[in-house]
Amino acid sequence: MLITHLQLRKLFSKFWEKKGHKLVPPIPLVPKEDPTTLFTGSGMQQLVPNLLGEPHPLGKRLYNIQPAVRAQDVDEVGDNRHTTIFEMMGNWSLGDYFKQEQLEWCWNFFTKDLEIQKNKIYISIFAGTKTVPRDSESATIWKKLGVAENHIFFYGPEKNWWSRAGIPENMPAGEPGGPNSEVFYEFSNMTHNPKFGSKCHPNCDCGRFMEFGNSVFMQYKKEKDGSLSELPKKNVDFGGGLERILAVLMSSPDMFKIDVLLPIIKFSEDLSHTKYKSDENTTRTMRILADHMRSAALIAADGVLPSNKDQGYFLRRLLRKMIRYGKNLGIENNISTSLLPSIVGIFKSVYPQIEKKQTAVQNIFKLEESKFRVTLENARLSVEKAIKKSSNNWAQTAFDLFQSTGYHPELFLEDLKEKNIEIDKRKFNQTYKLIFEKHQNISKKGVDKKFKGGLADTKGQTIKYHTATHLLHQSLFAVLGNDVRQEGSNITTERLRFDFSSSRKPEKKDLEKATKIINQKIKEKLPVEFKIIPKKEALKIGARSFFKEKYPDMVKVYFVGKYSKEFCGGPHVKNTKEIGKLEIFKFEKIGSNLYRIYAR
Ligand code: ALA
Repeated sequence: MLITHLQLRKLFSKFWEKKGHKLVPPIPLVPKEDPTTLFTGSGMQQLVPNLLGEPHPLGKRLYNIQPAVRAQDVDEVGDNRHTTIFEMMGNWSLGDYFKQEQLEWCWNFFTKDLEIQKNKIYISIFAGTKTVPRDSESATIWKKLGVAENHIFFYGPEKNWWSRAGIPENMPAGEPGGPNSEVFYEFSNMTHNPKFGSKCHPNCDCGRFMEFGNSVFMQYKKEKDGSLSELPKKNVDFGGGLERILAVLMSSPDMFKIDVLLPIIKFSEDLSHTKYKSDENTTRTMRILADHMRSAALIAADGVLPSNKDQGYFLRRLLRKMIRYGKNLGIENNISTSLLPSIVGIFKSVYPQIEKKQTAVQNIFKLEESKFRVTLENARLSVEKAIKKSSNNWAQTAFDLFQSTGYHPELFLEDLKEKNIEIDKRKFNQTYKLIFEKHQNISKKGVDKKFKGGLADTKGQTIKYHTATHLLHQSLFAVLGNDVRQEGSNITTERLRFDFSSSRKPEKKDLEKATKIINQKIKEKLPVEFKIIPKKEALKIGARSFFKEKYPDMVKVYFVGKYSKEFCGGPHVKNTKEIGKLEIFKFEKIGSNLYRIYAR
């Protein structure tokens, strides 16, 4: 049956409502009350206490559709079915019905409501371990429902046990879990790839079979002594990926053809003037773009900002990988912002926050992308050189590159993969970690030493340069005109550095003029003060802002006398007389219309 994702959502709700289930609203992608997991990874996340026995206010029969992120799958993305984000359609019995009803209803929903051909369906069942018996009850039920014996397969816990932590041995104390029974679809027009084993079967990785529904019989809890105890009540936790079900309904082994993914692929086709599936690399690249864009947009819409930590770091990785892969298709600019409207188009009726936050997300992506493109550009030659030179310690090479250019080791790994240079990823990660820790110790010692040498002094000097930077910024407007834009600034105890763009190239006499103005303002002993005011007001009074940065609604504005006003967090000197004399000692062109000034 060919239906849209919106129709599938409706059919699913109708089915479970009719069976007395109540809708639990999905939770955000970053679970609020659970610091142990980075992202919401399944529908049951919010129901863990209830699966352990806590009554739920909506009763014992629940269902929902929950967006979920599985960051651990990031390296698998590119094949026909892996994504970092998906929507899980789930239903739960909290100590109410169990195997008989669950499997029957699951079967009816798929084969009757969604009209999936019965002979294409395969089933997997838990084979049992020393401590948990084989699930012959499920086998009997499936057979009675009409599943042929040769469509039923038994597997051990690595395939047919589900908990958030995986197999029983990996479950922490207190974690619920249990044996499961999964439903697979056979794409019979695909041929088995012997690379994945001599015989094809539901859990074969060749892609002929796709799992699209998982009934977990949550009846155990891990104990401190490592054993499994029976939960007070037997629960059902079902999850089926909306994307995979849509692919099954289209009989398409390529999940990226469904209507929550194809529009993103179409956008990337337009951007790159390349057709999806024109070759293997393009196919893989476009799948990565589609997945990472969807993931990044929904994660950012849930309030995550790119950073070097946790969820923010994952978001940053997604964006960077997209930018880097986009380059393979010739997309050199604004990939994240250009693809964003495709996501809004798909999801605005389902997740209205994505449309409400569109501008904010757009600005975040724009800033992140522009920063990263500079890094990429700066790193390109060094990376090429390093790869050409080859290395017997790629981790060290990656670390050196990161130190000198900010180029991230994960991207370097991608480069190596692209060049067919095989490396042991585990060893790479271990070595990298060691080098990193060693380096951190050395730089920490450096900081300690600096502290003993009198941090107070050095701090004083950088504050002076900070205020001088404001004077320089303003003086450039006076000398070069109104289209001067700050592009960056950097201060050490020895000097200040200021990057800016200007349509007119500054001449020697312009720099002399600017120097004169700055020293005049220092001589005038101007007071430096700040005010915290609404951003709108700050812009109205003409305070200079750093256009690449996104500012909150209330901002701090520093005033240097009446001469300069600028958005800034501080700190600054109290009076310009503290700065002393300033001279520009170096000037260079660093790009088209881009200039750099050094002053001390
Ligand atoms: N919680 C189960 C899963 O995520 C249904 O597969």
